[in-house]
Amino acid sequence: MTALQKIGGLSVLAIGLMIFIVLMRMQTDITPVLNDTPQLREALREEFDGSFALTSTASGVVQEFDLRAAESSFELTKGITISSFAYNEQIPGPELRVALGATVKVNFRNDLPQPTTIHWHGVRVPNAMDGVPGVTQEPIEPGESFVYEFTPKDPGTFWFHPHVRGSEQVEKGLYGVLIVEDPEDPEYTQDVVWVVDDWRITPAGKLDERFNTGHDLSHDGRWGNVITVNGSVDEQLHVKPGERIRLRLVNVSNARVYVPDFSPLEAGLIAADGMPVSGVSSATGIELAPGNRIDVDITVPTGFRGKTITVTDTFTRATNRLGQIIVADEDAVSTPAFDYPLAKIMPLWSTAVEADVDAEYVLDARRGGEYGIEWTINGKTFPEAEAITLRSGEFEKIRFTNESARLHPMHLHGQFFKVLARNGKPVNEGFWRDTVLLKRDETVDVGLVPVDEGEWANHCHTLEHAEAGMMTTVIVE
Ligand code: C2O
Ligand code: CU
Repeated sequence: MTALQKIGGLSVLAIGLMIFIVLMRMQTDITPVLNDTPQLREALREEFDGSFALTSTASGVVQEFDLRAAESSFELTKGITISSFAYNEQIPGPELRVALGATVKVNFRNDLPQPTTIHWHGVRVPNAMDGVPGVTQEPIEPGESFVYEFTPKDPGTFWFHPHVRGSEQVEKGLYGVLIVEDPEDPEYTQDVVWVVDDWRITPAGKLDERFNTGHDLSHDGRWGNVITVNGSVDEQLHVKPGERIRLRLVNVSNARVYVPDFSPLEAGLIAADGMPVSGVSSATGIELAPGNRIDVDITVPTGFRGKTITVTDTFTRATNRLGQIIVADEDAVSTPAFDYPLAKIMPLWSTAVEADVDAEYVLDARRGGEYGIEWTINGKTFPEAEAITLRSGEFEKIRFTNESARLHPMHLHGQFFKVLARNGKPVNEGFWRDTVLLKRDETVDVGLVPVDEGEWANHCHTLEHAEAGMMTTVIVE
């Protein structure tokens, strides 16, 4: 071999090596190198261990409530009274507050002109109490009753709503909040719930009774033109300087997403979808998609004496007003000092990128069906779609791929998951969710260790999309 040939050979080798390195890098940019092994899965599960109560520790106390769904009328603002549906003639429905460990017993009666059920959103209930017709129970017919009974395992902010004709029944006012109080919850000066909803009112001042329209179905569902907090277009929270309040926001809208802006107040995010965060960060800028809840911790600065703060929503180009916090022109009260109890265990799951995807859901639309448009998961509408099975007590990775241009807040019943990656880029949110928003063409990977067994709904919480087929089920066994 001549020297020249040698050099030639070497440079071919060198170029080959460079191409190899570049290709490897491209690979890691696009798809991480998968290294799924039993050891990896074991390590991921171990990171999770202790995150959730596996069983509820029932105290023996039973807290009983009577709930009745019926037609009602509701004064939205002066001059606009709509015909609505309501629980116990209230919009929002009654705020159920229970102590952790208590058994919740709800004697429910359906006096609506149509069947209904109640789903306890975010609550890890026994499967039979989950309120999903065709999956966990029969629809409750007009005039019939049903007793819901369960012992919540997690303290926090949850809510309830029908799972039959949801786009109509929820829009007409059927929703309420369930708060599970922990004896270890710190003493805020006020603990307040803001139930955020939007309504579509016609120029004649009536609720638009056209549900599941082609327009709503081909877009992001039904977005209203009147926003209310606790049923009011002018919700006011009265506070004193120095107060430290816990404000729980619940988005019960059919489809609208909010991004609350509390500035100039500092609002710390202390819980998301009911569950405590692993570290407090600012709640301003957090997306509150349908179904989502956020709990925020606000200390009213003493310098804010006599001020009014308008909490706005900045998700859309136009800023919407949510509610107001009105600070009394009075001397400051003393501010309670405590550290909000954070999640004791929150897996980082930084190695979860190496795990294979266990189940994938492709979200898309097609023409056809009862409404002219169907929303599909893996090309199927509910109930044709086949349930996937997840292993209880094992780390599982689920991928949602949005092949449409629309928003889909995907909600998994009975489980909490953590977002691992968006569009392949690892993220660490530092909290659990039961609902995650997917934007146009977005891919979201979530990780979870299912602990509650049964067949659970998995659907888009844009209620019009769900009505048009965007639902499937997950079996945990
Ligand atoms: Cu609030 Cu099936 O959900
Ligand atoms: Cu959707």
